[in-house]
Amino acid sequence: MILTDVIIIGAGIAAHSVACRLCDRGKKVIIITKSNKRDCNSTLAQGGISVALRDDDSYMSHYEDTLTAGCGLNDKEATMTLVKEAPGIIRDFIKSGMNFDKEPDGSLSFGKEAAHKLARVIHAGGDRTGLMVMEQLYKNLDGRAEIRENEPVIDIIMKNGEAVGVITRDKDGNFNTYCAPYIVMAAGGIGNLFPGTSNDSTVTGDSVALAYRAGAELKNLEFIQFHPTLLTINGKNFGLISEAVRGDGGILVNEKGERIMEGVHPMKDLAPRDVVSRTVYSHTQKGENIYLDISKIKGFKSRFPNVSEICESNGVDLNKNLIPVAPGAHFHMGGIKAKPTGETSVSGLYAVGEAACTNVHGANRLASNSLLEGLVFGKLTADNIISSDRKANPAEYTMPTTKMKTPLPTKKDITKIMMECVGIVRTEENILKGIKYFEGFMPDEKGFISLDPRAYTDKDLEIYNMLTAGWLIAKSAYGRKESFGAHYIENDNIHH
Ligand code: SIN
Repeated sequence: MILTDVIIIGAGIAAHSVACRLCDRGKKVIIITKSNKRDCNSTLAQGGISVALRDDDSYMSHYEDTLTAGCGLNDKEATMTLVKEAPGIIRDFIKSGMNFDKEPDGSLSFGKEAAHKLARVIHAGGDRTGLMVMEQLYKNLDGRAEIRENEPVIDIIMKNGEAVGVITRDKDGNFNTYCAPYIVMAAGGIGNLFPGTSNDSTVTGDSVALAYRAGAELKNLEFIQFHPTLLTINGKNFGLISEAVRGDGGILVNEKGERIMEGVHPMKDLAPRDVVSRTVYSHTQKGENIYLDISKIKGFKSRFPNVSEICESNGVDLNKNLIPVAPGAHFHMGGIKAKPTGETSVSGLYAVGEAACTNVHGANRLASNSLLEGLVFGKLTADNIISSDRKANPAEYTMPTTKMKTPLPTKKDITKIMMECVGIVRTEENILKGIKYFEGFMPDEKGFISLDPRAYTDKDLEIYNMLTAGWLIAKSAYGRKESFGAHYIENDNIHH
């Protein structure tokens, strides 16, 4: 058994933000990730970080935009904390060495993205913000935390209703037990539960499934954001085309060059993401091809080097100024119910970043609020841990003996049913079909309880987590009868 002060599951921006702060205060931290530390959504993030740092901006304006995009379902206190803490935390991050893009006069460069009243998105390396932010965080952490890679967490170890540790399997097949008074879940969202996604291939709903098995309360699982513009060729997605492209003048057009957002929303191409995604989807469902017309953007390749590389490596000729796009799963607004300071309903278990639902995003996340959430709530979670005095309560894991009654499905099977059941446009009938599908794989009448890991490979257990998360999402979607933001029920006349 390995004992430490804090265990962090996941290795993206939220995990590193927590770890840096804890290590500054001398805590012993172990980060555990199922893959390589760079395999996460944070490194793929393009657009940037929204923060009210301009003289003509204010955190109140950022707050209002966050609430409007979220259809007002956001937790107002948590949202206020996010936007108010943001400027100070970003200034500190810049002081630590982070280099955001600048204007020729040396001031910060602000990009515009959907549903923001003004340009307030800071970025780095043009559209390589996530990568540059993570490189800075690796530097700031400076080897002070132990990072265990290629070691999936199989379960959270519980003792008398408290989270006290985790059980993992390393790349040599050994089961390892880690115990600590604080377990921080920061393993991201659910993108790969869908056929097309902007997410890293490792993001498979593990946070939701692990927390569910630990008995944690989950919230708003039905709110799944689809990004309107993934590079899409012959129905296959090849990566994100940042919303900042539309912020800089990119326009969504059909094959005849007609604008598809005209008359749909007053903000047109910069309407909230759920609105734009549904509009693009309604066209692609009719068999039309939709493009992002970039002809009005000067110096496209230098402003968007990452997007340019994604396009060119997939055979898109940028001289034609048309990038073929379609929506794909991008961000989970729902997740483990948590406070901005990380506490969940389970003592000893904390959640932060996309894994958590502090409900700052409501029914639809405002663009570039997610890296921000990782940095801000990561710091608040670490500060909370620093000022708490939970005692270690180590325990061994009791190997479960449950086995599947039916063979596991393929990932492709799961993504197909998820798109049908809880995709961009939903119907009650399809949601019920999804619930029934998932329940067909339930190994026990008590639900998706822990399987005997000795009988299954890591890939099998990943699929089991996908089934678990899919079932929970479908049930959550069934519980919300009215459309709000990303939860859109067809023929529902009460869309908020
Ligand atoms: C993007 O660059 O379009 C993604 C930014 C975000 O998800 O907030």
